[in-house]
Amino acid sequence: MRIDTGAGSILCDPWVNPAYFASWFPFPDNSQLDWASLGKVDYLYVSHLHRDHFDAAHLRQYIAKTATVLLPEYPTSQLEDELRELGFTRFIKTVSNEVVELDGGLKIMIQALTSPTDGPIGDSSLWVEYDGLRLLNQNDARPSDLSVFAELGHVHAHLLQFSGAIWYPMVYELPEAAKTAFGKQKRDRQFDRTWRYIDDLKASRVFPIAGPPCFLDEELWQFNDIHGDEGNIFPDQSVFLAEYRKIGRDNGVVLLPGSLATVSETDCAVSHPVADLDEFFANKEQYLKDYRERQRPVIEAAKLSWRHPEVDILAEMKRRIEPLLDESIYLANGVGGPVRFDLVGYDGHSVESIVVDFPGKEVRPYADEKVRYRFRTERSLVEHLLFVEEVDWVNSLFLSCRFSAARIGQYNEFVYAFFKCLSEERLQYAEGWYDEHERTTDAEDVTLDGWTLQRRCPHLKADLTRFGIIDGGTLTCQLHGWKFDLASGRCLTSVGHPLRARRADGVSSADLSTSVEAAPDGASAG
Ligand code: FES
Repeated sequence: MRIDTGAGSILCDPWVNPAYFASWFPFPDNSQLDWASLGKVDYLYVSHLHRDHFDAAHLRQYIAKTATVLLPEYPTSQLEDELRELGFTRFIKTVSNEVVELDGGLKIMIQALTSPTDGPIGDSSLWVEYDGLRLLNQNDARPSDLSVFAELGHVHAHLLQFSGAIWYPMVYELPEAAKTAFGKQKRDRQFDRTWRYIDDLKASRVFPIAGPPCFLDEELWQFNDIHGDEGNIFPDQSVFLAEYRKIGRDNGVVLLPGSLATVSETDCAVSHPVADLDEFFANKEQYLKDYRERQRPVIEAAKLSWRHPEVDILAEMKRRIEPLLDESIYLANGVGGPVRFDLVGYDGHSVESIVVDFPGKEVRPYADEKVRYRFRTERSLVEHLLFVEEVDWVNSLFLSCRFSAARIGQYNEFVYAFFKCLSEERLQYAEGWYDEHERTTDAEDVTLDGWTLQRRCPHLKADLTRFGIIDGGTLTCQLHGWKFDLASGRCLTSVGHPLRARRADGVSSADLSTSVEAAPDGASAG
């Protein structure tokens, strides 16, 4: 998205090239826009380092290096370092939640979220004000509430994510019916969360952005929402509008690449690059097939580049991961068991099984044991991760959806948190964050539907008076969909994270149900 004002232009997250092992492509195709002129901007805002927001090749080639980067306040310097490497030299280092006055009366504020589960350790939203008009590009960030933006005055344009951006539940080795049921739950929850944010801000216009991606490799084609699968987690902008209308709202505005929305106090005039938006979405399947043909050579070339037969995977994983296991306390304890990788060879059937043994603090061949998680993927992908020294396997392998997974027991956020922290700097940050989080218990209690419970969600501190839904004896926090058994306080979605709760009337509630299947939604890109 490019924001043009009388005091300068801001280009936000220009993503064009496929991300995550050539699995995600922008939908619709934006590669044919006039990037040479779109890239001549005053300011650049890259919300975070997920590869569908930070497109290094595109930034290098098309975006003016004279642009001033509006930098979120992140705990690690990786975003700034990578942008400097691309040739950007001008930076405004913002402070989270503080308004910055730029030249000509343009004001901006960036809210940075910094938990280990926010994006690749950090996600952010950009607020902009010019000439009495305000815009919030919430993007795919999930703040616990939007009050800090609402307090700055009425917002005229609210741009936010509404679709899925994760591998769950598609990659899990589950019966189809269960997969569909979990997918449907997730799809519903994504919309519920979106409505909640929209209700929080009450902007004049709402723009569904930051997704969904589309999948153009044949191997991933089934993830596109074109097969009538009600468990598909990637509904598109037209589905958003239809669902939004069902709850009685008519201020949603869809943008395609090349659309222009002119926002004023009272109006929003929109022009599109196509004559008929409904027809465009009605022809989505054919559109994707044509897009797939155009991108076929790109995908084929990418696949060839992942093979590095000279990489000794076991030795290399030992070298890179064992020192981190040694240092890890919270993440290693949180995982609590071995995690197995089954790597399928170039021939398509030979398999090497490697275990990352968190309690034993070592990486070794699989020894016919029970494991917490099992991932099955192509050997070449892991060779590539090791070859390029990737420090974030979520922002590469897992988001690619080019794997299948099985687990015993609950979703375990620590597994994914560890594999996004494969560097000393990241691991230390995550360990410190969990340590502090554990020690700062939120003392405030509230009463909801006959239960007295802590106000802040044990996951990432969402305000449960806004995000908590109680059904029977179960509390669901709608920010990421985590569930808690109120009677015991047990988290039903992930290991740890107990909730403080009791019946407000003091009546015993031991007979309440405690059986709920986990439905993780911890990480997100898109
Ligand atoms: S804050 Fe994530 S589920 Fe509550």
